Amino acid sequence: MKGSHGPSCAEVIRARRPCAPRVGLVLGSGLGAFADAVEKAVRFSYAELPGFPLSGVSGHAGEMVLGTVAGVEVAVMAGRAHYYEHGDASVMRTPMETFQALGCTAVILTNAAGGLHPEVPPGELMLITDHINFAGTNPLFGEPTDRRFVGLSQAYDPHLQALFHQAAAEEGIRLATGTYMWFSGPSFEAPAEIRAARILGADAVGMSTVPEVILARFFGLRVAAVSTITNYAAGMTDVELSHEDVKEVGPMGAAKLMRLLPRVIAAYGSA
Ligand code: HPA
Repeated sequence: MKGSHGPSCAEVIRARRPCAPRVGLVLGSGLGAFADAVEKAVRFSYAELPGFPLSGVSGHAGEMVLGTVAGVEVAVMAGRAHYYEHGDASVMRTPMETFQALGCTAVILTNAAGGLHPEVPPGELMLITDHINFAGTNPLFGEPTDRRFVGLSQAYDPHLQALFHQAAAEEGIRLATGTYMWFSGPSFEAPAEIRAARILGADAVGMSTVPEVILARFFGLRVAAVSTITNYAAGMTDVELSHEDVKEVGPMGAAKLMRLLPRVIAAYGSA
C-alpha cells in the first residue's frame, strides 16, 4: 500500500497554481489529446508530484494538467499507471487522493478496452455501468481502517451517467453501456478467458480503471468511467491483438470524448 502523499501533491500544485478543480480526469491509452484542450493550463510532470506513479507505457504521457474546460476548473491526468507495471494495485492511490485534496468532487476515468459485442465495434464508446474485478487483487489491501469496506453498489454515479447520455444525445454520438471486467494484463486475454468473461456478464475487458474506481469511492469521489472500444476481444476475430492497434484506434474514441467531455463537465460544473 502506498503512503499518503495526496495532500502534499496538492500543496505542490497549489504553490504554483492556486486552483479549486471540481472534476478530475484520467486519460487512458491514445486518449491524451484531451489534455491539450485544457485552457489556462499549468502542467506538472508526475516526477514533480510526490508519490505519483510513473507510467512507462507508450501512449501514456505522464503529466497532470490544471486548468479549465468549458469554464469549469479541472485536474487532468494524461497517462496512468497500471497494476501490471508495478505489481501494486494501489498504484493510483496518491492520484485519487490528490484529486480529493484539491477539492474535486468527481472523477471521470477513461480507458481503452476490448469489446465483447459485435454490434459495438472498435471506435465506439461504452459508458461503464458496473464492473467485475477479475484481477485477484484490490487497491485497498493493507488499508488498516474500517473505511476499507467500501460499498460499490452505486460506484458508477447515476447523475454523471445521465450527463453522459445527455451529452451523447446532443452530439449525436452512440454511447453503449455495459460491464467492464478488469484483467491484470499485461498479456492480452486468452480466447477462453473471453468466453468465460461473456458468461460472467462482461461487455468489455481491460487492464485498468477498476482499482481507480475503488480508490475514488474510498476517497468519497463520484465516478464516471468510459471505455473506447479499440478492438474486438481475443478470439472474436482472426487477428492477434497488439498494443499498436490499441494506440491506433484510441484516437477515434478520443475524438468523440473531446466532444462529450466539455458538455459533461459544463453540466456537472453548473449544478
Ligand atoms: N484486453 C485488455 N485490455 C485492452 C484490450 C483488450 O482486448 N484492448 C484495449 N485494452
